[in-house]
Amino acid sequence: MTMQTVVVLTGAGISAESGLSTFRGPDGLWEGHRVVDVATPQAFDTDPVTVHRFYNRLRRRLRDDDVAPNAAHCALARLERALGRGFHLVTQNIDDLHQRAGNTQITAMHGELTKIRNVDTGDVLPWAGDVIETDRQWRPHVVWFGERTIGLESVVEILSTASIFVAIGTSGTVHPASQFAAIAKTAGATTVEINIEPSAVEFDYRVIGAASERVPELVDQLINGLVA
Ligand code: OAD
Repeated sequence: MTMQTVVVLTGAGISAESGLSTFRGPDGLWEGHRVVDVATPQAFDTDPVTVHRFYNRLRRRLRDDDVAPNAAHCALARLERALGRGFHLVTQNIDDLHQRAGNTQITAMHGELTKIRNVDTGDVLPWAGDVIETDRQWRPHVVWFGERTIGLESVVEILSTASIFVAIGTSGTVHPASQFAAIAKTAGATTVEINIEPSAVEFDYRVIGAASERVPELVDQLINGLVA
């Protein structure tokens, strides 16, 4: 059996077909908000009500009937089951669709919408209903602009072991994820992008198309080719 390490990076595009909007829509707004008003530490300091109201709404949206993992999320769960420790998923998404699809080997580098964090102690709790909008003690467990991403060192280490790196549904505009393909490439990996349009990042291969169609196809090829 040939065993190689596949590292997959996902962005908002993989969840677009699950009914969640991407960040860089044509209007430049995120769910109707300017990111500086809802996704910066300064916004939370000056206006916690707007910030909590925004994230409370996003969390409730995750539980809507029409929001569920799509075929792309499910295919990645299948890939993890097939490759075991030869697989690692890095996501920029704060939704929980990868977890709901069954992936466990995940680095959620921008945090998780379904968790809240104590501002003083750093304690992280699962979300158990709306956060009171005036609360300054508990904040969303998400990475805001200007804050450090979560687990970056271990991600860079994993990337250096990758034989295949696949980026799915990410515009490659946000550092440090925009560098991952180059890091994996330097380490000797073959790099592949799946996106409905080419992103700004360089890859060895581009697969243009919707994640829900292209990811299951690629996963089939990887499983057939790598675990034979
Ligand atoms: P973006 O909104 O920047 O990019 C989404 C990408 O998905 C675009 O390249 C689209 O072409 C592609 N796309 C859309 N629908 C697709 C589909 N059905 N199948 C395949 N691709 C599709 O989202 P991200 O790259 O994830 O950070 O954004 C990165 C980070 O920027 C986010 O995590 C967030 C934001 O600022 C933080 O909140 C810290």
